[in-house]
Amino acid sequence: MPRQPPAPNVQPASPAGGHEPPAPAALPATPEPAGPLAQARAALERLSTWVPIRALARRHRRRIAEHLLALDAQDRYLRFGYPASDEQIHKYALGIDFGRDEVLGIFNRHLQLIALAHLAHDQPLPGQPGRTMAEFGVSVLPQSRGRGLGRRLFDTAALHARNRGVDTLFIHALSENRPMLRIALAAGAIVERDGDESAAWLRLPPDSFGSQVEQALERHLGELDFQLKRQARVLSGIVDGVVEVKTHFDATGRAAKE
Ligand SMILES: CC(C)(COP(=O)(O)OP(=O)(O)OC[C@H]1O[C@@H](n2cnc3c(N)ncnc32)[C@H](O)[C@@H]1OP(=O)(O)O)[C@@H](O)C(=O)NCCC(=O)NCCS
Repeated sequence: MPRQPPAPNVQPASPAGGHEPPAPAALPATPEPAGPLAQARAALERLSTWVPIRALARRHRRRIAEHLLALDAQDRYLRFGYPASDEQIHKYALGIDFGRDEVLGIFNRHLQLIALAHLAHDQPLPGQPGRTMAEFGVSVLPQSRGRGLGRRLFDTAALHARNRGVDTLFIHALSENRPMLRIALAAGAIVERDGDESAAWLRLPPDSFGSQVEQALERHLGELDFQLKRQARVLSGIVDGVVEVKTHFDATGRAAKE
């Protein structure tokens, strides 16, 4: 059974569509690479496939809505668990609680938001009082899929959650959603399948000096990348303008001579 859409005026309580997660089975902690050398190697490995990820804020609501509106009905169904209408997407984007949650984005060189992740914090962990959980939801535009962006957003969201002291990451996916389940399984999540729907639970290790440094580094590099792309666009706009003016004067000069 697909999940029910939220009541028209109600913001989904979670990025995956306002669904109460089932109680997780006992989760083993995800092991961290042992020793500083192994941790440094793992960090280097992540850097070798680095893509700039930017933390989004309230002012990005319009871009967030545009990204989600570009998804077709099937993708909206996979993302939210129901075929969200344009109106529901606008309400979802307007209702994101930036004071509580984190929203991460990847921009292409045209500054189009091609990949988006929502990490909803402070979600109740059923049957486990005192434990903290965050729910992860993600989408990548069709033309940008299969390049590891979904996985990178997942890894970054897990890092951020870990650094905030969250101990479990939850992902609600339809059982047919193989890319999403592959990402979760590869990270070490336990996946519980219940017919058409699956729940994935990833137990996070506690934060460390290295994990905090990694997040700070990623934030700065992501911001730098965005600013460079913006400058490049401004510069290209100026160059286009100069070429246009020059073409106009050349044409006017020719016409005057003739
Ligand atoms: C799920 C989604 C975010 C994955 O994004 P992506 O950037 O294409 O994912 P990646 O490139 O990181 O690939 C992830 C894994 O899925 C695999 N994969 C990609 N497409 C696949 C497909 N059609 N069938 C099976 N596996 C697939 C990749 O090979 C990769 O696994 P690997 O690293 O073991 O090879 C994207 O498909 C999407 O936006 N779907 C619609 C919304 C959605 O389903 N959201 C998730 C629910 S919250």
